[in-house]
Amino acid sequence: MAETQTIGIFGAGWVGLVTGGCLAELGHDVIVRDVVPERIDALQGGELPFHEPDLPEMLARNRGRIGYTLAAEDLVEAETIFICVQTPPTYSGDADLSYVWSALDDLPRTERRQILAMKSTVPVGTGEKVRAALEARGHENVGYVSNPEFLAEGHAVRDFMNPDRIVIGAFHDEDGAAVEALYAGIDVPVVNTDVASAEMIKLAANAFLMTRISFINEIANVCEAVGADVVEVARGVGLDHRLGPHFLRAGIGYGGSCFPKDSLALKQLASNSGYHFQLLAAVIEVNELQKRRVIQKLQKHLGKLRGKKVALLGLAFKAGTDDMREAPSLVLASRLLAEGAEVRAWDPVARPGELMKGAVLCDSVSEAVTDADAAVIVTEWEELRELASPEVREAMARPLIIDGRNLLDPEETRAAGFAYEGIGRPTSPFAALPETPELEPRIPQ
Ligand code: UDX
Repeated sequence: MAETQTIGIFGAGWVGLVTGGCLAELGHDVIVRDVVPERIDALQGGELPFHEPDLPEMLARNRGRIGYTLAAEDLVEAETIFICVQTPPTYSGDADLSYVWSALDDLPRTERRQILAMKSTVPVGTGEKVRAALEARGHENVGYVSNPEFLAEGHAVRDFMNPDRIVIGAFHDEDGAAVEALYAGIDVPVVNTDVASAEMIKLAANAFLMTRISFINEIANVCEAVGADVVEVARGVGLDHRLGPHFLRAGIGYGGSCFPKDSLALKQLASNSGYHFQLLAAVIEVNELQKRRVIQKLQKHLGKLRGKKVALLGLAFKAGTDDMREAPSLVLASRLLAEGAEVRAWDPVARPGELMKGAVLCDSVSEAVTDADAAVIVTEWEELRELASPEVREAMARPLIIDGRNLLDPEETRAAGFAYEGIGRPTSPFAALPETPELEPRIPQ
């Protein structure tokens, strides 16, 4: 069990609340500070501003140990203060650190030693800059530690409580040890290192995961050209213990709040130092092209897309979240609309609003597919596993499914009377024929 510390958190966003909730669960007293009054009001009233499994229950369970405030002064008693603010990309592709600097401006003053622990993803070198900024502001008693998060949306609580490792980069060993002590009770390897290396571990881990995705997506594209099945290939490759099975799911590319932003930030970080990070540049480009390949698959079956009705099934960047940041669905919708297609969009939780202007938002899968010339699986929602049903086949104008997540079984789907194409899967001769009679528009009864 960890010795109880008083923890302050700057930023009541997703990282801040997961961190705060989990540290309270570990027995610490936590106070979370944000600058948005409505957010603090909502949290004090027990409402969470986003969808994250297990977090509402965890925050409710630890209500007595976690408070929310607008006043930075309320963090004066904290022994460790985590910075969990957003670091969005600027026009130059660098990470925008303005929220980090505002947090420093608001840091309460105390005679006691405090530790500032950085959870936000920041460029390598930020720790040095923060240290200088702390000195310039006269915070001689404040130590600095880089303690990056590796949380994935949809299972962030599990990731925090059962991590693969804890990374701690410190200028002074005793500061690193104080942050490590917070995690007592979580039995995993701790990487104690310097600040710059800790910052780089986070960026490199994300970049490597993205590299695996773009790699398997390129293998999928070659599989399509030569008649191999990427699902089988990934299975065989992933069993090599040196490679492992994770992040080898081919699809329509990665999205989300981290990967696109962090890859750009790392590429820019390298460029700013005069280095062209070729591999990462290719990973990013492959991901952009991958989303657009769906359009070519649709054109292969439907010819010109002008006037065609296309159902986009799943809008969130992955299943289990309502997050649409950098979701492939956004690129697909705007490309389809630009081609003159009618877009009918459905998601069980994501609500795109203005982001998907021009698309018709549907309340159910059946509404989205009615009279559609094609259905595209964009997000791997469980309910879409049942898509190849007689009802859907009957409702569609043409029974064509483009499976952007390889969610369905190709043989079963074709046997159910659909033309089917996944990503990197052998295409049946039936699906390849441009004028297949079965694909003629259904004549309304
Ligand atoms: C990711 C990292 O996993 C996490 O460690 C980091 O802190 C933040 O970024 P997240 O964005 O929540 O987390 O989602 P993740 O589950 O990693 O998926 C990212 C994207 O990659 C999704 O769009 C997903 O669909 C895609 N993906 C993932 C694939 O296309 N194929 C895969 O094999 C795995």
